[in-house]
Amino acid sequence: MPTSKIAGIGKYLPSRVVTNNDLLQYMETSDEWIQERTGIKERRYAHRTEETTTTMGVEAAKVAIERAGITPQDIDFVVFATLCPDYYFPGCGVLLQRAMKMKEIGALDVRNQCSGFLYAISVADQFIKTGMYKNILVVGAEKHSFGLDFTTRGRNVSVIFGDGAGAVVLQPTDKAGQGILSTHLHSDGESAEILAMYNPGTHANHWKEEKYAAFDDAEIGQMFFSHSMIDQGQIFPHMDGPAVFKKAIVKFPEVIQECLHQNNCTTEDLSLLIPHQANLRISQFVQQKLKLRDDQVHNNIQKYGNTTAASVPIALCEAWEEGKVKDGDLVCLAAFGSGFTWASALIRW
Ligand code: UT7
Repeated sequence: MPTSKIAGIGKYLPSRVVTNNDLLQYMETSDEWIQERTGIKERRYAHRTEETTTTMGVEAAKVAIERAGITPQDIDFVVFATLCPDYYFPGCGVLLQRAMKMKEIGALDVRNQCSGFLYAISVADQFIKTGMYKNILVVGAEKHSFGLDFTTRGRNVSVIFGDGAGAVVLQPTDKAGQGILSTHLHSDGESAEILAMYNPGTHANHWKEEKYAAFDDAEIGQMFFSHSMIDQGQIFPHMDGPAVFKKAIVKFPEVIQECLHQNNCTTEDLSLLIPHQANLRISQFVQQKLKLRDDQVHNNIQKYGNTTAASVPIALCEAWEEGKVKDGDLVCLAAFGSGFTWASALIRW
């Protein structure tokens, strides 16, 4: 059975740099607070009207496809991970297929937030292993800047997130011991609501309010959104940061150890860990817990903030471009986030 190798990798970061001090015009915060609690110095925001989650995904994909030495017409399956799709539906996969003039191939959208890219490459890996596809494009892209609460009310979330995209092309390899050695996916829905964006959605909690009791189906049917949802800021992501932090620092090391054990490896064998860039303090905690050297962990949250599904492929691409990932290296990708979902992948480059 073939395994999957990363044949090409690309990233795209919008050109607009937004510093912590730039955010002071909207909310009560400080450069000191943001750097101390998260490590973030600046992030990128997409062009308001000319860039979307899909267009950024396309830019990253172009680079990955070119580096794989193929063309968009050679791609036989797309997996697109994002939590900020251009439309509520359809997903970004088909928009990318259209924009890149690909054949009428399958396009799958993955909704696993910060773990989205890991879930996406795990799915793609299975299709390569079974021999069903030969050139799979996996994308993680986010345009967070269009859906954040830029008031003091939303500051615990809005200062963290940034925009960007990363992409890889997976191809089969027969070279023994090379490629994606294993992937590991987990979830615990008990805490689904502590990091979530509730609206628009079919949960209907909003409509349980007494004032809507007399409304009939037709009236409710036209009210997927309401003015009060907007007024009360219920259209923005909600996060209980400390609760997410506590769970993340347990699950990150656990899922990293899981993929090392599965492949009879130890942390000493690891060339590079690419943790999802949620918070520099989380990455540092994981590094200490696993006793990894500085050169074994790649962080870039300082420059880009948390780009959820895009953070792992952006960081992996950056590390590869900087020469930190070489043939034969053992690379671990790991992520934790909303759901909760968490995941890891071990790759022999
Ligand atoms: O990628 C998806 C997964 N997400 C994560 O992994 C995020 C995990 N959590 C975190 O990264 C951290 O919990 C945060 C960075 C979100 C928050 O850091 P924290 O050290 O946990 O702060 P906190 O939420 O406990 O808030 C401490 C104080 C509060 O004020 P009081 O109640 O102590 O007076 C907040 O209101 O900091 C205040 N605060 C801020 N102050 C200035 C919250 N946000 C800000 C802000 N600027 N942006």
